[in-house]
Amino acid sequence: MSRSAHPAGPRHADVLPEGHYSAPAADLNALDPKVWAQTVTRTENGSVSVGGIDVSALAEEFGTPAYFVDETDFRARARAWRTAFGHDADVFYAGKAFLSRAVVRWLNEEGLNLDVCSGGELTTALSAGMPADRIAFHGNNKSVEEITKAVDVGVGRIVLDSFQEIVRVAHIAQSLGKRQRVQIRVTVGVEAHTHEFIATAHEDQKFGIALADGQAAEAVRRALTLDGLELVGIHSHIGSQIFDMAGFEVAARRVVSLLAEIRDEHGVELPEIDLGGGLGIAYTSDDDPSEPHEIAKALGEIVTRECEAAKLRTPRISVEPGRAIVGPTAFTLYEVGTVKPLEGLRTYVSVDGGMSDNIRTALYDAEYSVALVSRTSDAEPMLVRVVGKHCESGDIVVKDAFLPSDLAPGDLVAVPATGAYCRSMASNYNHALRPPVVAVRDGEARVIVRRETEEDLLRLDVG
Ligand code: LLP
Repeated sequence: MSRSAHPAGPRHADVLPEGHYSAPAADLNALDPKVWAQTVTRTENGSVSVGGIDVSALAEEFGTPAYFVDETDFRARARAWRTAFGHDADVFYAGKAFLSRAVVRWLNEEGLNLDVCSGGELTTALSAGMPADRIAFHGNNKSVEEITKAVDVGVGRIVLDSFQEIVRVAHIAQSLGKRQRVQIRVTVGVEAHTHEFIATAHEDQKFGIALADGQAAEAVRRALTLDGLELVGIHSHIGSQIFDMAGFEVAARRVVSLLAEIRDEHGVELPEIDLGGGLGIAYTSDDDPSEPHEIAKALGEIVTRECEAAKLRTPRISVEPGRAIVGPTAFTLYEVGTVKPLEGLRTYVSVDGGMSDNIRTALYDAEYSVALVSRTSDAEPMLVRVVGKHCESGDIVVKDAFLPSDLAPGDLVAVPATGAYCRSMASNYNHALRPPVVAVRDGEARVIVRRETEEDLLRLDVG
């Protein structure tokens, strides 16, 4: 991330602390369209609206903290991916980023497929009418129950992640009298430039089967001999929140060269390759993600070129974007509870949520931005750290940002780009009640995941 130490002098404190943050935006009231959902604007009265509804009205009706997802934007992004990849490719939305039944219906209507990685995600997808043959099932340790259900309902593909799983899936499929379409997930040995916890193509991690040492070729050999399996392709996912296309290029090249090896050894041309998800989004104004049509063009060209060189028919490509579709479409709305200036350091702004609704800052050092959204302000910028209400000092939502220095309890602030991996990774830490997800579109707002209640917490407590 290209952030440099703030060069300018302090505005509200005499000394600004060392740190890596950008200078405050010239106008703190401005909303950078890079990080805010498509229909978010500032209205004439100074507050912010989404889908034509004022955030103050949304806070009044649905409470805070809450996630608001711009349905128009979600559908537009889903469609952009679908259109960019065209009819010769498939887009599988990665449900782990955020999944609910409403989302499944939007995806279905927009012509996307779905990638799930647990029995719970599979059940959600099926219960909202996603056809099983448009579902891919992932995971490095799928249970026998999960595999059995996936095979039984007829998922379009299971992505095999280990030698044991090749045998396990084959056995289950055979015992159900089925032949399951599968892909083998390989690790291509690429070092993706992202946080260690979300990089997945280097060799020293738990996913997939390494291309190195002929491991993947051996997995293919075994899969091809098992009656319960129909091996249709090779899968690679190099990591998440990646901006540099170079890693995808190397992955595509190595996967195609495995296809050529398979053709040479077995006389079989596998018809599919999946290049995974992982495309980065803008969390702050410093991030510059690629557009789906640029990504589709780049991947299509590499695969076509490599296949021509290897004299292979070009396989059907699929991709699995999660964050790039849902991430930018939502923001989290919080109410400010306390404002605590620490002279010479920064001002701590406590909001009514925290690491229970956004663990990404604590877990990956993720960067976010924040804005005052219930009104405008011409006050000087102050350096803030937006923190939650949990009992630990790592409970940080936005590490370094600027807000107007007249910020006060009762103001509403919003953190954009929280559509991916926030609600889906939310917890009940400190018995927090997980916030609702509200979809907003054309002047209408409806809850798609309701707020948890204390009764929900007590229902699980059987002591
Ligand atoms: N396909 C596979 C096989 C994956 O494992 C993932 C993400 C995706 C697709 C979607 O990746 P995306 O396009 O959303 O980056 N919790 C972390 C991200 C973990 C990603 C896990 N796998 C975060 O908050 O950054």
